[in-house]
Amino acid sequence: MTAVAAKGRGSGKIILTGEHAVVYGVKGIAAGIARGAHAHVELSDGPESRLTLGDRTVAADENGDDLARAFAALLGASAAGPPVVVNAVAEIPPGGGLGCSAALSVAIARAIDAAWSLEPDDQRVFERGMAWERVYHGNPSGIDTAAAMAGTFLVFERNVGHHTLYTAHDVWLAVAYSGSSASTKLMVDGVARIRTSRPELFEKFLNGVKSITDNAVYAIDAADAQTLGKLMDYNQMLLAGMMLSTDTIETMCKAARDAGALGAKLTGSGGGGSVIALGGMCPRGEANSEAERLANVIAERWSTAGFSAFATRIAATPAAGGVAPQPSDSSSEEHS
Ligand code: PMV
Repeated sequence: MTAVAAKGRGSGKIILTGEHAVVYGVKGIAAGIARGAHAHVELSDGPESRLTLGDRTVAADENGDDLARAFAALLGASAAGPPVVVNAVAEIPPGGGLGCSAALSVAIARAIDAAWSLEPDDQRVFERGMAWERVYHGNPSGIDTAAAMAGTFLVFERNVGHHTLYTAHDVWLAVAYSGSSASTKLMVDGVARIRTSRPELFEKFLNGVKSITDNAVYAIDAADAQTLGKLMDYNQMLLAGMMLSTDTIETMCKAARDAGALGAKLTGSGGGGSVIALGGMCPRGEANSEAERLANVIAERWSTAGFSAFATRIAATPAAGGVAPQPSDSSSEEHS
């Protein structure tokens, strides 16, 4: 092994509004969170590139299993270099709706580009990440990859792009894993079937989500946490109408609202995965806010009910020219 080594990180993500609708070009709001994935890369002395993830090691192979193919696709998506040995670690559950796969791909892409001494290039990282995601998700919108790279709030629109949501206020959320995973591809396929069989229902879903996202951007800008919470609840109703919720998700949303959450919804593909609840908003960087306290109360409520939960701050991003802080988890961290 040569001495060249490099590291990379990718953020996990939550989708505040717009999952599934973004696949069809409707705007959504996503955010990178502090938890995600990290990767360590060394140049290899051997002939092939290898990836270790948990207890599995694969060689990059276009004809191999999903992991081997995703790795090969990521390596081949842009500028090439010598074989690498990659070790990657996920800090969030796979299939949990928190963008685990995108976080891994961004961490790996960043570490590989650094090991190959390539100039950092967001477009290249995005392309590598998307090549990986296509193996797993078939028709990814790119929202997970964008959030994994951004680490803060962004407004995403497929085939148009994404931009940072500039705001003066931090948003405090509680996040919990429902304990079961769903395949994003299968859930996206399920929505596609409703689109074919019930086009009028599907159009109402898209139009509803479109309004919710537009109003949520306005609510964040106006620091109106009550309205933002209600919009999250409406989005959850629309997602449930598309058969994307489960009994467990509904129970978790109710528990969060009973604990004082301003709103609650599934995040990601649904059918399992994770749930988010709004604790509130506070001025940028404020410590010990009511929003933080409430996010922790909700996370504790979920944790008492047996779900792995944590509170997280989505840090405000000041307007261009300011210093963009990284999002950070609550100090009280994991409640499971
Ligand atoms: O990867 P997940 O399960 O967090 O969901 C991604 C969001 C979807 O809108 C369901 C799919 C997509 O590609 O945008």
